[in-house]
Amino acid sequence: MISMESNVSLKPFNTFGIDCRAKYFFEVKSVAALQELISTGVLKKEKYLILGAGSNLLLTNDFDGLVILNSIKGYAIENQKEEKISLRVNSGERWHDIVMYSTNHHWGGIENLALIPGSVGAAPIQNIGAYGVEAKDVIEKVEFIDLQSGNLNTLTNRECHFNYRDSIFKHELKKNIFISSVTLTLTLKNHRFNTSYGAIINTLQQMNASTENILHIRDAVIKIRSEKLPDHRTLGNAGSFFKNPEISESQFHQLKKTYPEMPSYPAANQLVKLSAGWLIEQCGWKGKTLGQAGVHAHQALVLVNMGGASGEEILLLSKKISDDVQKKFSITLTPEVNIF
Ligand code: EPU
Repeated sequence: MISMESNVSLKPFNTFGIDCRAKYFFEVKSVAALQELISTGVLKKEKYLILGAGSNLLLTNDFDGLVILNSIKGYAIENQKEEKISLRVNSGERWHDIVMYSTNHHWGGIENLALIPGSVGAAPIQNIGAYGVEAKDVIEKVEFIDLQSGNLNTLTNRECHFNYRDSIFKHELKKNIFISSVTLTLTLKNHRFNTSYGAIINTLQQMNASTENILHIRDAVIKIRSEKLPDHRTLGNAGSFFKNPEISESQFHQLKKTYPEMPSYPAANQLVKLSAGWLIEQCGWKGKTLGQAGVHAHQALVLVNMGGASGEEILLLSKKISDDVQKKFSITLTPEVNIF
């Protein structure tokens, strides 16, 4: 029997800590419960929003529909060979808990992705990434439920069309689906460590730790992230607010003449990726506030709720920042967070 709550505050369910309300609210704990919800026909009548950990979300209004909170937990080993293991994880698990579980077993592949907030179900949607590794490097398949029919489907890694902070789940499959589980392939031996990112090597050296040890790399990543990124429990935020922009080589060469120190990285399709944090800092926004919305003092790409900010206030700050970046560099910043 499905029972939905009404007029529920979403403050505990979004890491910006924005106090918006949902007209209806349903916490789903199993695929069967979700299928039962679908069979009531409510998703055909009400608009709906699926929430994982709410860590990549900016709410600017009350939600005049049904919020479905994903609490489908559990994981199991699906397959184990000499060098690899497949771990099937239900989408309501916390990503970081799975990183801790896997690394504690010395399974390799996601040690660089420690301390990323968010649920496992959200990982493939924006192809989460950090320190040279992306979720696409370990995702074997993604299972989802069609929210119209209730049917289960599976996509292989290739079929997910992964790209930088992008996948099929932001395009063709943006609506009407609910990711129910993600299967990861992790290494049991012959691990492929990725410690080339400057901050990781420096931190491992400081810690007197090995570049060939899963637990050491994970702990270095945790140290770097804890120092740079605010904890949403004390300072509301949703990680990087914007994506790092990708521009053409010719635009890059022009800009480089004026800003020779500008950080840049090679990207796919002959594009050059720039650091949005650097661009924002150059516009003088780092550490600045606008009402109760602020730009984090240690990482200009992270917008923060200084306490009691409304979603509108944070959105306004983000617009002022992107206007300034546009004016100074002729570069358009695109939000990474989902804005509702
Ligand atoms: N930088 C500045 N000023 C700033 C912030 C950054 O000059 O205020 C410069 C840094 O000095 C560095 C460069 O920008 O040269 C890159 O900075 P950083 O290593 O902090 O990474 P990022 O590009 O700002 C991306 C991801 C993060 C991820 C880190 C580490 C995006 C949108 N963000 O940030 O992911 O943790 O790399 O790999 O791609 C997230 O997506 O929410 C997130 C936190």
